[in-house]
Amino acid sequence: MRSITLACCLALLTLGRSQAQQAPESKAPENQAPANQAATFAGSEVCQACHEDLFNAIRKSPHGVLESDKKRGWEGKTCESCHGPGSKHAESTSPDDIRNPAKLAASETARTCLACHLNQPSQSGRIRSGHAKSQVACVSCHSVHDAGRGLVARKAAAVNTQCAGCHISAWSQFQKPFKHRLPEGAMSCVDCHNPHGNALPGTTRAAAGAEPGCFSCHSDKRGPFTFEHAPVRFEGCAGCHEPHGSQNPRMLTRADVRFVCLECHANLPSQTTEKTALGVVPPAFHDLRTARYQNCTVCHQKIHGSNVNRDLLR
Ligand code: HEC
Ligand code: HEC
Ligand code: HEC
Ligand code: HEC
Ligand code: HEC
Ligand code: HEC
Ligand code: HEC
Ligand code: HEC
Ligand code: HEC
Ligand code: HEC
Repeated sequence: MRSITLACCLALLTLGRSQAQQAPESKAPENQAPANQAATFAGSEVCQACHEDLFNAIRKSPHGVLESDKKRGWEGKTCESCHGPGSKHAESTSPDDIRNPAKLAASETARTCLACHLNQPSQSGRIRSGHAKSQVACVSCHSVHDAGRGLVARKAAAVNTQCAGCHISAWSQFQKPFKHRLPEGAMSCVDCHNPHGNALPGTTRAAAGAEPGCFSCHSDKRGPFTFEHAPVRFEGCAGCHEPHGSQNPRMLTRADVRFVCLECHANLPSQTTEKTALGVVPPAFHDLRTARYQNCTVCHQKIHGSNVNRDLLR
């Protein structure tokens, strides 16, 4: 007797369930919100009902201006400016019904963000950058909601921590004895690199035009000089320096200054007289066997360029 009732109940239950499953489909035509129709904009206040914390935080963040600024076209729809139309998700609460930039391919996330940020000058080199090519997404560095990390790292130490997280070997170069003072928080990676990408090699920043960003701090090396030292212009600073840090004084590429020079000048033929030839064979003016001639920059003091002496002596 008991088992019969149970079977009956089960049968009723399954019947009810299958009816319920069919219901949305059969109702669809008059309902206007079938499962396969595109979602529409619900408005931030609808989101607020279930995501109160995020709503309050966004209003205080720079993106909060979207909520009220008519000019930007997202008035009352801040959440959906990044998450897309949310009416369907607001009903189902299913993650499948809403766009989450953190779960998209990096190029798709970029498209979402660049819909508004494309015109920012710092983005102009993005396509060429290693970050775009290697699928490093905007959200790898920018946290839209996490108040703890902040939307954008501004303090030098915070930027360095972020970059060092992925660039361990670059960071290790700043632990060498002669280096720019990043570990001390006096400078950051973005003083020299545009994190979004730049036209110069290594996405290094430009000071003005296509000049190396080094000039923004080392302006005395900019010139113009009456007598330039050719490699400063044509090889760039990294021709003789390791800009992150080095074992060698002045962050040079070689421990001995003369070996930096001889990498190029050992093979330079004398332009004028034999007197000025480099080498050890008399009548070479520079007799490299003697200590006197080994310390090149004792005499060639204006190594980055001179206004008075062709041989960069003063
Ligand atoms: C009725 C409550 C409710 C409303 C209204 C609602 N959500 Fe949600 N939302 C949820 C719940 C619950 C989750 C968590 C789903 C889970 O993790 O299974 C969620 C998750 C999300 C997620 C994360 C999805 C993911 O991939 O993990 C996003 C983004 C989101 N909501 C955005 C919105 C936006 C934008 C709106 C307004 C258009 C909105 N929500 C309105 C309940 C709601
Ligand atoms: C500027 C773009 C942007 C806006 C505006 C925005 N979100 Fe998000 N949202 C994101 C991104 C990006 C993520 C992925 C996680 C992250 O990077 O913080 C995310 C993640 C989420 C999640 C998943 C849970 C979490 O914290 O990771 C929810 C829920 C969510 N957003 C709801 C909202 C709601 C509600 C609003 C409006 C009050 C809103 N979002 C406004 C970009 C945005
Ligand atoms: C609907 C337009 C819109 C979208 C989409 C958008 N933003 Fe924004 N974002 C803004 C506005 C407006 C500001 C406020 C500053 C301003 O006026 O430029 C802002 C500010 C920022 C700032 C802070 C700038 C500062 O100087 O403090 C960052 C970082 C940022 N957005 C990153 C993102 C990321 C990452 C995404 C994608 C997940 C994104 N934004 C998507 C409109 C947008
Ligand atoms: C999520 C990991 C990640 C973070 C965070 C990150 N990078 Fe990268 N970066 C990469 C990858 C991957 C590449 C491409 C492969 C490579 O060249 O090493 C790259 C390449 C580079 C390059 C080489 C030049 C180029 O465009 O190819 C520079 C310079 C650079 N990143 C600077 C930075 C700076 C500055 C920061 C901090 C603002 C930073 N990165 C944060 C992953 C990251
Ligand atoms: C490798 C980390 C990294 C990636 C990837 C990245 N950013 Fe940034 N972004 C930064 C840092 C660091 C700053 C601060 C730069 C500064 O202070 O000079 C910044 C600054 C910004 C700003 C403030 C305005 C400006 O130009 O200084 C906006 C807006 C912004 N980023 C949006 C984006 C968007 C959109 C993407 C994806 C297309 C993105 N960022 C990708 C690290 C990154
Ligand atoms: C003093 C300026 C300066 C600072 C500060 C700086 N860089 Fe660089 N970085 C350069 C220069 C110059 C290059 C070489 C570019 C080239 O290829 O000509 C470079 C190259 C790189 C490369 C490419 C290396 C390779 O082998 O291709 C990466 C990655 C990089 N830097 C990451 C970082 C990170 C991460 C930080 C912060 C921890 C940082 N840089 C700080 C100037 C700097
Ligand atoms: C944000 C400013 C800034 C930028 C940009 C910058 N530097 Fe520097 N640089 C400094 C400061 C400050 C010092 C002195 C460091 C110290 O005393 O610890 C320094 C020191 C040096 C030194 C060593 C000087 C010595 O006496 O040992 C060299 C070489 C150098 N920088 C080269 C470069 C190159 C090459 C670039 C571009 C790739 C560059 N710097 C970009 C600020 C900068
Ligand atoms: C041809 C090689 C060479 C090139 C290229 C070069 N330097 Fe130097 N630099 C040197 C040498 C050698 C010294 C050490 C001079 C000494 O021994 O007193 C030096 C010293 C420095 C110093 C510290 C002493 C001072 O004069 O302030 C700075 C800063 C510096 N260089 C910056 C730069 C910058 C910025 C660039 C790119 C514009 C650059 N250098 C390009 C060879 C070079
Ligand atoms: C990357 C290659 C390179 C390095 C390294 C280099 N030079 Fe030069 N140097 C040149 C070139 C190229 C010229 C131009 C030669 C010409 O005009 O015939 C030049 C010109 C000179 C001149 C002027 C000579 C003239 O005829 O105008 C002097 C002096 C000089 N270098 C000294 C040095 C010293 C000292 C060092 C080491 C600190 C050094 N150079 C490192 C490539 C280099
Ligand atoms: C004792 C001072 C002194 C030292 C040390 C010295 N030079 Fe010179 N160098 C000179 C003088 C002076 C001239 C110009 C000679 C002339 O015009 O007849 C010169 C000329 C040059 C020239 C131009 C040659 C040409 O053909 O026009 C180069 C290149 C050069 N030196 C490189 C070096 C290098 C590399 C070192 C280090 C190995 C070095 N010098 C060390 C004094 C010195």
